[in-house]
Amino acid sequence: AESASRPALLLDWYDRHRRRLPWRAAAGERADPYRVWLSEIMLQQTGVKTVGPYFEKFLARWPDVAALGRASLDDVLRMWAGLGYYSRARNLHACAVAVLRDHGGIFPDTEEGLRRLPGIGPYTAKAIAAIAFDIRTMPVDGNIERVVSRLYAVEEPLPQAKPLIGVLAEMLLGPSRPGDSAQALMDLGSSICTPKKPACALCPLDDDCAARLRGDQETFPRKAPK
Ligand code: ADE
Repeated sequence: AESASRPALLLDWYDRHRRRLPWRAAAGERADPYRVWLSEIMLQQTGVKTVGPYFEKFLARWPDVAALGRASLDDVLRMWAGLGYYSRARNLHACAVAVLRDHGGIFPDTEEGLRRLPGIGPYTAKAIAAIAFDIRTMPVDGNIERVVSRLYAVEEPLPQAKPLIGVLAEMLLGPSRPGDSAQALMDLGSSICTPKKPACALCPLDDDCAARLRGDQETFPRKAPK
């Protein structure tokens, strides 16, 4: 029988097993750009578990980007206390001010427009574009690097392999739902395709994972010697 494509297998798995995270929209609904942006900034150097309560606190106090843009920097820094890397909080505030002042409180809906905002680098612009605006682009974080390097048995070591892994990761985008494809790979990397002892028997892509076929999953991603 014809087997389903990797993008389709991945989305099917996501529909059944995705993590319920506070910034994610209900199935079939588009995520709020403000929530996606706020969560991505918080998740840059902080884990999902820690971020959850902070995300909820921010949202309760400042329900949209305009409200956050009118807040004082001191209030934002106080609310951020405990998350660390305070330049993120300063940029967060500066970004909200810019969206309010220069964009009427509406986030730009292109990768290029997002890139021009304070605190939004290439990865975060791609993540917001894909998740909030359904733009066909793939943000590649550490989890996705691991999944993709195993799936294609990428021999080139990190960090040199980043451009290649980016191209291979884009091949996992199907004709629709780019944000769900990206988040499916993030979830797969955190719950199944883990650094040690990956649970390959539960993976929707195990039948065509090059590393799994060779039996050396844990040796990917390759790392350049220090
Ligand atoms: N890490 C960064 N962005 C994420 C997201 N949208 N879902 C889960 N983990 C993430």
